[in-house]
Amino acid sequence: MTAEAATPHAPPQAESAVLRCTELVRRFGERTAVDGVSFSVAPGETYGLLGPNGAGKTTTIRLVCGLLPPDGGTVQVLGRPGRTARAKRLIGFVPQEVALYQDLSARENLRFFGRLYGLSGRRLERRVDEVLELVDLSNRAEDRVEALSGGMRRRLNIAAGLVHSPTLLVLDEPTVGVDPQSRHAILESVHRFGAEGMAILYTTHYMEEAERLCDRVGIIDRGQLVAEGTPRELVALVAERDRIRLTASGDLASYAAACRALPRVDGADVGGADGRVVQAVVQDARSLLPALIDLAHERRIQIKSVEIVEPDLEAVFLHLTGTPLRE
Ligand SMILES: Nc1ncnc2c1ncn2[C@@H]1O[C@H](COP(=O)(O)OP(=O)(O)O)[C@@H](O)[C@H]1O
Ligand SMILES: [Mg+2]
Repeated sequence: MTAEAATPHAPPQAESAVLRCTELVRRFGERTAVDGVSFSVAPGETYGLLGPNGAGKTTTIRLVCGLLPPDGGTVQVLGRPGRTARAKRLIGFVPQEVALYQDLSARENLRFFGRLYGLSGRRLERRVDEVLELVDLSNRAEDRVEALSGGMRRRLNIAAGLVHSPTLLVLDEPTVGVDPQSRHAILESVHRFGAEGMAILYTTHYMEEAERLCDRVGIIDRGQLVAEGTPRELVALVAERDRIRLTASGDLASYAAACRALPRVDGADVGGADGRVVQAVVQDARSLLPALIDLAHERRIQIKSVEIVEPDLEAVFLHLTGTPLRE
């Protein structure tokens, strides 16, 4: 529940944070979907909630956006209590499920959402043009939603969250189920909004997205934040623990035992479907690899391939929870 990673820069203070969640709890019957989650998002920061399906990401987002009352804890948006109209206006919410009118055009949809937030007249038209441009849909503005591809609908969905110029953009798994090209376009635009200074809360179960987009990441599992930090800080939790994977033949069991006896080798086991892979967990793969290869030669082990696996957020998740991110 408490963040394991030490953050060298202090987390944002209440008065300066765009979003501050404190000890959020939400239950559904017997199940506690969100179990004491605290985090903040600073101005201009892209904060990622990373966790597997069912971890509690969407429920957290719905609490943040005031769509669901919490059973405990508080949400503050720029110091204002969550669920108030003023707090809600500061948030642009992009739900996981596309929420658009199929028989209206892209432009008409955006006008509709803009009016909901009190925009009208020239200001509304100008903003609709702007957001169409932002998600690269200006040339499809007059097309009905039903005529757009899945990826285009996702981008229009994002535009709908942006039309009232929110202070905090909240995106719930915006790339799930989209083709690679649209996924790339979505990631690029989110990256650009972040670079332009917008505060962003982004949920995903793809560690590459969190690593690529987010200034800070909170790892969520079973309703709890199990760690928080920059991607670099999180990876440092499993630091100096690279894995070397050797596909080889020979007496691999005794070879693995000899590897374990080497300094700075934390472990070595034989695995793989046909028992032909030796996996060693080491403190620095690059400096240890020559010693492992020398040892293989001494023991007449035939090496077929060598792979170095450096820790990533996937490894961090495994390290912290004991289960892989993708099951
Ligand atoms: N409306 C609901 N009623 C009952 N259970 C729910 C509801 N919404 C979510 N849950 C449960 O809460 C847990 C977290 O769900 P969710 O927040 O959707 O996770 P994620 O978005 O990370 O996949 C899951 O076990 C899910 O089944
Ligand atoms: Mg979800």
